[in-house]
Amino acid sequence: MKMIRCYIRHEKLDSVREKLFELGVPGLSVAEVRGIGKPMSQLKSAPGSRVPEFMPRLEISLVLSDDAVEEVVEMLKATVYTGNLGDGKIFILPVEDAIRIRTGESGEQALY
Ligand SMILES: Nc1ncnc2c1ncn2[C@@H]1O[C@H](COP(=O)(O)OP(=O)(O)OP(=O)(O)O)[C@@H](O)[C@H]1O
Ligand SMILES: [Mg+2]
Repeated sequence: MKMIRCYIRHEKLDSVREKLFELGVPGLSVAEVRGIGKPMSQLKSAPGSRVPEFMPRLEISLVLSDDAVEEVVEMLKATVYTGNLGDGKIFILPVEDAIRIRTGESGEQALY
């Protein structure tokens, strides 16, 4: 199992939600976050630059089976792309286990 964690602009949420439904992912969580991307590392290339400000973003987290990762990542790349700075970033994390509390199921059985 893997967790896909993705940072996107608010206006992309509805289309991402529709596409995730089409792909049949097991579930997802969304959180309002504030973040900074590349400007956070600019001090080395531009000495004296100001500390960057946070930008509002959405953090989408979803846990899914390994073999579902690629199609979801490809969908995210296509759906949230505008070509402008701040399009977002996708991280893929290993997941040890999952437990559905109601039934006690674990592993991938707890996902689907
Ligand atoms: N290394 C990181 N760790 C955690 N969160 C990050 C990281 N990089 C980006 N983010 C999150 O993703 C959001 C969007 O990042 P963004 O798309 O601006 O990345 P970038 O590296 O600056 O790329 P670009 O040059 O396209 O703007 C950030 O506001 C932050 O919430
Ligand atoms: Mg950026």
